[in-house]
Amino acid sequence: MNRVTARAPGRINLIGEHTDYNNGYALPIALTQQTTVHFDPDGSNTVTLSSEQEGAGTSFDIGAQPGDVGGWSAYPAGSLWALASAGYPVLGGTMTVNSQVPIGAGLASSAALECAVLLAMNAATGTRLNRLDLARIAQSGENDFVGASTGLMDQIASLYGEVDRALLIDCESLEVTSVGFDLEASGLSLVVINSHATHSHSTGEYASRRETCSRAAHALGIDSLRRLQDANIEQTLTRVEDGTDRRRVRHVLTENRRVLDCAAALSAGEFRSVGEFMNRSHASMRDDFEITTPLIDLIAESAVRYGALGARMTGGGFGGCVIALVGSDDAYRVADGVCADVVRAGHRAPTWFVAHPGPGATTSPVSG
Ligand code: GLA
Repeated sequence: MNRVTARAPGRINLIGEHTDYNNGYALPIALTQQTTVHFDPDGSNTVTLSSEQEGAGTSFDIGAQPGDVGGWSAYPAGSLWALASAGYPVLGGTMTVNSQVPIGAGLASSAALECAVLLAMNAATGTRLNRLDLARIAQSGENDFVGASTGLMDQIASLYGEVDRALLIDCESLEVTSVGFDLEASGLSLVVINSHATHSHSTGEYASRRETCSRAAHALGIDSLRRLQDANIEQTLTRVEDGTDRRRVRHVLTENRRVLDCAAALSAGEFRSVGEFMNRSHASMRDDFEITTPLIDLIAESAVRYGALGARMTGGGFGGCVIALVGSDDAYRVADGVCADVVRAGHRAPTWFVAHPGPGATTSPVSG
């Protein structure tokens, strides 16, 4: 049988963190960094995995169930389990993974891997699914097989990405509206500073934030915090008894509004305002949702001090990357300044790159 190849990008979320599983809003871009999966079906019932970055993976039976496969192999295995559970065909063969997306850095390397695996398998079996169904299947693999209770933003970003555009996702209707974000034409750069403090969303803190939001919504008698979108935030918060829960809810409600305001500012080319919303989002993640770390805060503050229009942690939190919106001429000065500050504070030097909004996932024509 013929080799098939699929590619799916990582993402940066410009703003809107921990809002997706609260049916709120997010504004990500797809990265130009992608994960490539080559799949050679061989007529067997076993998928043999290897990765340029991670080495050999665990080979697994195409009937593998949750709990059967661990480590990074759980992501491909979970995606294929979810695909089969949804009633679509899955074949055995060899899968080779090569990822340009930094792993465990808050840039959705997991979603990139899942989406590339699913697209490669579907290309091999001739299955045609729309992007939303693919995103849901990838999420199901991550939630129910890997055990990470993540939302749908990363998969949507990876599948819907557009060059020079950001994606405003309404995580309730799942409507995706693209918003122009031509950095070069605007004289801007988006600098991504990787702290190299890695995180995992299958461990406690991410899940505990999700549980708190759902418990608070339940206590308020609503099915999701999205129901409070148009409510008076201060008044609503007086109805949340526990102080910590109150701050968590405040983050989600204010973050949703910041996403909409930021998308409007982006459309209008008001980049100073975009930067300001990013700064406020970071403060909210730091003070109310408490998902940043001292190192991440240091990077974000330092970027602003060196002249960034705005800076914030991107992704699920507890490490990973900070993004900084800077004038194109300032990228080196800001990034070098941040790196020097971090080293001076006794941490490992961060690495950085300039990001561009890239295209969504694709499948190469079947070859051979
Ligand atoms: C991770 C999850 C997403 C989202 C973000 C936080 O990237 O995979 O679903 O919840 O964290 O915004």
